[in-house]
Amino acid sequence: MDHFEIKHGVLHAEDVPLPAIAEAVGTPVYVYARATLTRHARVFREALGGLPRFHIAFSVKSNPNLAVLSVLKREGYGVDVTSEGELLRALAAGIAGDDLVFSGVGKTTRELGLALDAGLGQFNLESEEEGIELAQIAAARGRRAVCALRVNPDVDAGTHAKISTGKAENKFGVAYDRAAAIYARLAALDGLEMRGLAVHIGSQITSLEPSRAAFVKMGALMRTLRGAGFPVTHMDLGGGLGVPYRLGEVLPGPAEYGAMVAEVTRDWDATILFEPGRVITGNAGVLLTRVVRVKPGVTAPFVVVDAAMNDLIRPAMYGAWHDFAAVRPDGRRMTANIVGPVCETGDTFAMGRDIDAVQAGDLAVFRTAGAYGATMASTYNSRALVPEVMVDGDRWAVVAERIDPATILAAERVPDWLA
Ligand code: LLP
Repeated sequence: MDHFEIKHGVLHAEDVPLPAIAEAVGTPVYVYARATLTRHARVFREALGGLPRFHIAFSVKSNPNLAVLSVLKREGYGVDVTSEGELLRALAAGIAGDDLVFSGVGKTTRELGLALDAGLGQFNLESEEEGIELAQIAAARGRRAVCALRVNPDVDAGTHAKISTGKAENKFGVAYDRAAAIYARLAALDGLEMRGLAVHIGSQITSLEPSRAAFVKMGALMRTLRGAGFPVTHMDLGGGLGVPYRLGEVLPGPAEYGAMVAEVTRDWDATILFEPGRVITGNAGVLLTRVVRVKPGVTAPFVVVDAAMNDLIRPAMYGAWHDFAAVRPDGRRMTANIVGPVCETGDTFAMGRDIDAVQAGDLAVFRTAGAYGATMASTYNSRALVPEVMVDGDRWAVVAERIDPATILAAERVPDWLA
């Protein structure tokens, strides 16, 4: 459920009519509904009610906006970070220490040191090599880094190939068959406190079965390690739960996911960590855009909008579907291709789609744009970096300013020897 609804003929975010935001901030602009964020955070937490001990670390990469992090912090969420920049954001939002998990295959020496100094709660080690380096960095500081070993369970998440992370050939984690031996070697290092295992098999997963299969394998590995004398107290099950991108699409939601986890982990006696991203933020945001013009096409007209692949890259990158809706729908429909202004054929949001009829100057939204939207934006074609707005009831604020081409240009230099 979200809070983007038609009231008196106009699409609103909570109690704010979207034209008011377009008028004041311009388009394109991402608009987030605080009520949806809060609701999703609570629904996900309640769905885990069957677990004795758990901790939720919101996956910052899905939407790293500081205001979004602040909302989730108030909901008692920790965060999962994957870079120095995300760590900086988490700390700026006041999330610290035990509430931070650090994932990622390429944590640099600098990042490992910074995270240690920030009192990071758990490093999810992606290789033995990383563990050895972290042990040295921690030992040099007279510290022990709290760690989990990320394991690649070789399970196909059944999602888009570019966001599948748990197959043997993917770069993530250590091979399942080698995990116990690696865990034992890392546990012997002075600088590390190995406390558990981590797994994350992919994103936008629309069936519970791949996750169940992966979690069952992780449970077996946990028992092997405990049998060998290692006190495995924490199990990080990652994120990945998919969300409906199409009106009326029904997928397993947090409740079904929580019940599945409760069943699989029944006798684990461990603290279970979760790293949800999309399920919290996806349907909490829309990308608000204005139709520049409509031009004829061979099979269908082209609706050219002022948002482009640089603002929302998911359709170009993953062939992703985002519902398109007029801000002032009048009941008429049209079949159209929806495209942006960027000079690439890939800058196409939809082909031959049945949509609300729109014409030049109309406002419209791409829905389900709160996750992996603004954060993946670029300035390609020297376009502005898209701004973000958060709505809360009948008030709203710009939570990330538009960075215009002149500002970006001002950071560039022509060296003397070219002048
Ligand atoms: N934990 C780890 C270690 C991850 O790599 C990810 C996402 C998550 C948690 C959160 O997954 P979620 O709950 O959001 O599915 N840009 C792509 C998605 C990339 C996901 C990367 N990792 C997209 O737009 O679909």
